Amino acid sequence: MPQTINWALGLTRPTLMIPGPTELAYSVIQAMNAPPTVQYDASFDERVLEPTLLALRTVFQCRGEVFLLPGSGRTSLEAGATSVIEPGDRVVVVVAGQFGALMREILVRAGAEVTEFTVEGGRPLDLGRLAAEAERVRPKAIHLVHNETSTGATYPADAVGKIARGVGALFLLDTVSAIAGIDVRTDEWGIDLNMTGSQKCLGAPLGLGVVAVSDRAWEAMERRRTPAKSYAYDLLQWRKTWLPEARGGRLAAGAPRSQPVSIPTHLTAAMRAAVEIILAEGLPHRFARHAVAAAALRAGLDAMRLELFPDAAIASNTVTCVRTPQGIDARAVVTTMRDHYGILVGTGLDKLRTGTLRIGTMSLTASPAYILPTLSALELALREHGHKSEPGAGLAAAQSIFAEAS
Ligand SMILES: Cc1ncc(COP(=O)(O)O)c(C=O)c1O
Repeated sequence: MPQTINWALGLTRPTLMIPGPTELAYSVIQAMNAPPTVQYDASFDERVLEPTLLALRTVFQCRGEVFLLPGSGRTSLEAGATSVIEPGDRVVVVVAGQFGALMREILVRAGAEVTEFTVEGGRPLDLGRLAAEAERVRPKAIHLVHNETSTGATYPADAVGKIARGVGALFLLDTVSAIAGIDVRTDEWGIDLNMTGSQKCLGAPLGLGVVAVSDRAWEAMERRRTPAKSYAYDLLQWRKTWLPEARGGRLAAGAPRSQPVSIPTHLTAAMRAAVEIILAEGLPHRFARHAVAAAALRAGLDAMRLELFPDAAIASNTVTCVRTPQGIDARAVVTTMRDHYGILVGTGLDKLRTGTLRIGTMSLTASPAYILPTLSALELALREHGHKSEPGAGLAAAQSIFAEAS
């Protein structure tokens, strides 16, 4: 009899409980199992691309245009930044973690004169101070990360949208780890560029950026003194070469369309299947499911005597960032969970890498089917590293949250 049993033997891959890419539904995987189609063929446009983009409007809660771009979340951030920002434009960027810092860097490269509004990681945003800063700087745009994936904290995008509107600024929002997992109201909150990626709560494979564009954002692009430095990611190109006049574009009715950048056909088919799943579930149910799932996970972690990294009041429903017990390296816990129990969670990023874990509850994984095994694996892995908690205490606490919601 071996001294320890490896429960991951025979598993061909770990279950993805990292905060994206996340697990995929069978129909999403199957949608990619097809021979190539031609991206510029009208039939791809009519049967796959256009219906997917129209359906995404419901997910984004907007009436305006939504586009796909080959790439990822940061492609959409870069497309947004380079499309509306010209050298010397003032932008206020809220930096509450790694992904706020990422957009600061993208905006600096786009030539913006950036004013950073720093928020301590995991702590709430002081809206009064942000409003005063916006008043002082009078920026062309304010940028916020709705759900800061590096710290597991969600920020009040609706209130920041009001501040932006109050000073006549565009409101740029990174919803990479938010959209389709927590409520994001593009039109109601005045989001001018809603920028995200495919591989998180949308439940689609990695490989697409997704951007929703408001009328105000189009106007800013039209008013540019110089063309955007990027061709492929200049969103205005979509207006010029793809959108018909009836939707604000330049194409006469019936004129042939062309995509400014070749859109990956397989990934678009997968996105269409993913959006079908979201719409069949319905947004209110989907948001409630993510909320209950994250609450159950947090209750389980608490019962295992683990401390959340962010303030509880702003803890995210799609990514949970939790401290490892004193003296236990998060990287070792991740390796043990993966190699002994077949479940992959993430470490924190940068300075939080050794002291925190990040667990995604996104799309399919916002469910007891994924959360209970994760808590079990975490408890057993921590036990191997010397942190003992009452066996099953985390599971019981999570289960009672699921039971209350059932
Ligand atoms: C909030 C946020 N913004 C931007 C990004 C970058 O997205 P991508 O890795 O898809 O380029 C991520 C990735 O995790 C993210 O969580």
